[in-house]
Amino acid sequence: MIAASASAKIILLGEHAVVYGVPAIAIPVSDLRVYATVKPEPSGKGLCIAAEDLNQVLPVQVDAEQVDNALLLTVKLVLARLHVSPPDATIAIRSQIPPASGLGSGAAVSTALGRALCMMLDQPLSREDLNAIIYEVEKVHHGTPSGIDNTVIVYEQPVYYVRDQAIQTFSVGAPLHLLIADTGKGALTKVAVGAVRELVTQEPERINPILDSIRVLVIQARSAIETGDTRTLGRLMNANHMYLRELTVSSDELDQLVDAAQNAGALGAKLSGGGRGGNMIALVTPETCETVEQALITAGAVRVIRTTLEEESA
Ligand code: PMV
Repeated sequence: MIAASASAKIILLGEHAVVYGVPAIAIPVSDLRVYATVKPEPSGKGLCIAAEDLNQVLPVQVDAEQVDNALLLTVKLVLARLHVSPPDATIAIRSQIPPASGLGSGAAVSTALGRALCMMLDQPLSREDLNAIIYEVEKVHHGTPSGIDNTVIVYEQPVYYVRDQAIQTFSVGAPLHLLIADTGKGALTKVAVGAVRELVTQEPERINPILDSIRVLVIQARSAIETGDTRTLGRLMNANHMYLRELTVSSDELDQLVDAAQNAGALGAKLSGGGRGGNMIALVTPETCETVEQALITAGAVRVIRTTLEEESA
């Protein structure tokens, strides 16, 4: 059996501002994954993608001009990059990552699919090439993506990401214990990104200083992570959430979860990803983890996931 997978991701700081060249910090969530398995089919059957969670089977037609389905576009771009025709196979996709919730589900599905296809064809793609393809596919989901989602997912490592710059990673001075809490409300990143773009265009004198402040706090957050100063990191996360509110990408549900986490003793809490729904994150300690988790559930979280970024040198 040929099988490939890709992880989820969360953005620790800098979402939205990253679209405008501000750095952002993101980490993979390796316990939450998308799996793609390949079943070879008899000759002439063609290539099909079976999206098991959606109960959908998509036949691949590579000669289609306009491809606005992310899965079909992934296949088309991988085949074009490898200069091959579609193999006779069915690729089944199974995802543990909730869609439209800021966890990178779209990029993870495409990455797992692209990897499975390359394995089936026995033609591996470099991470750089796969990343470039998934970035193109991200445009279907996000309109004008910064590229952070595909980068953290394809490389599956913590990234300090600056748009159009080579990937940078960072060391982790002390483990970061995080809770990821889901509001249960899906929200389209594309819509939130579009709303911020409108603000940037219409009110640059008010919005540009906010983007500058986010830049400063992301740079400080990187040092805090590297030196293991989790208290400072928590404060910076709280501040980042306030700026995201000003960018109109929070929601009542997200604010309630953030307040609940802060009041229950989290070092910091903020929305994560596109916002207006989806997930928030809370930085906790092993001692406060349980209490904050309970507070999040009481405040309406439909699911809380624990993840730890272990101490590591870059
Ligand atoms: O995919 P999400 O919801 O985690 O959001 C991506 C992060 C944004 O900064 C909002 C958009 C982008 O392309 O960077």
